[in-house]
Amino acid sequence: MEHTISVTSQAERKVTDTKSLPFGKIPTEHMFIAEYKNGEWQNAQVVPFHDLTLSPLALCLHYGQTVFEGMKAFMMEDGHINIFRADKHYDRFTKSLHRMCMPQVPEKLFIDAIKQLVLLDADWVPKEADGSLYIRPFMIATEDRIGVKVSDEYLFMVVCSPAFQYYAKPLKVKVETNFVRAAEGGTGSAKCGGNYGGAFYPTQLAREAGYDQVLWTDSVHNEFIEESGTMNAMFFIDNVLVTPQLSGTILDGVTRDSLLAIAEAKGMTIEVRQISYAELITAFEAGKRVEAFGAGTAAVVAPIEIIAIGHKEYKCYIEPDAMMYQLQKELFNIRRGLTADTFKWNYVI
Ligand code: COI
Repeated sequence: MEHTISVTSQAERKVTDTKSLPFGKIPTEHMFIAEYKNGEWQNAQVVPFHDLTLSPLALCLHYGQTVFEGMKAFMMEDGHINIFRADKHYDRFTKSLHRMCMPQVPEKLFIDAIKQLVLLDADWVPKEADGSLYIRPFMIATEDRIGVKVSDEYLFMVVCSPAFQYYAKPLKVKVETNFVRAAEGGTGSAKCGGNYGGAFYPTQLAREAGYDQVLWTDSVHNEFIEESGTMNAMFFIDNVLVTPQLSGTILDGVTRDSLLAIAEAKGMTIEVRQISYAELITAFEAGKRVEAFGAGTAAVVAPIEIIAIGHKEYKCYIEPDAMMYQLQKELFNIRRGLTADTFKWNYVI
């Protein structure tokens, strides 16, 4: 079924100095909203950004039936706007919705909603090289009923916010062996709200101990690296790119996937496999060059400077000639239209 999106725009709100604000703090002028009722999507609209009215009984408030995506639009060199890998984000959104028993959004509705919103708020796409427009599609269960059940009603929304560097400096991370982010069979590979809320407490403890993020380990042995905070974890050990394989406990990161493809095209040696923290210790103690970084939409490539394992801190290689910066640069060039988009990742609007 075709969905018509109505557009109501408002008098232009001045684009302020968005660079000085924390990530995600300022929304653009408009948002997209559609309602799911009686088994179908309806009232698809791009409207001025506004607060929601929600029943205190809304199921999402009690049982966490929520799913979201994190995407980015870039200002290209030629002045066009590029929504990066919109199709891959749609696929992941679809998988997350399925895991959380939420209704699918037709691909055309998802893409058109984002396209119309971004075009209307085009002035909010930063022109600076380190800027982008962060796009947050999300769905919440809105049926007003406190009984534990799958909701019959939902809102699908998209909001945007100008984004700059997520982490101001290289990270200090702590290998986490007491708490786990996800267990096999759980929701770890879905981008659902609960995965993030559940990570707050261990992350807060790590911050109190002087670290920026945790490096999660697996739930069975607490030995194998999973993800870091809100990012996939990647390493170069003596110039070999190593990253954990996807599983039910790891998010299928779009940045991770993009960096792997770029590395392959550059002829780098890649190993997608389990990596234990013991292997990292061995590499550090053998004097190997270890690069570590987080990969994510918001963080892009976030260099890790220190990895704490138990009571010992190990120093990673973050000098300008590190391999991770080659991947970062190529990704930047593709998204900005400075290098040919041979992977067909750019959705130029
Ligand atoms: C992203 O990188 O897009 C994320 O969703 C992580 C975080 C901002 C929640």
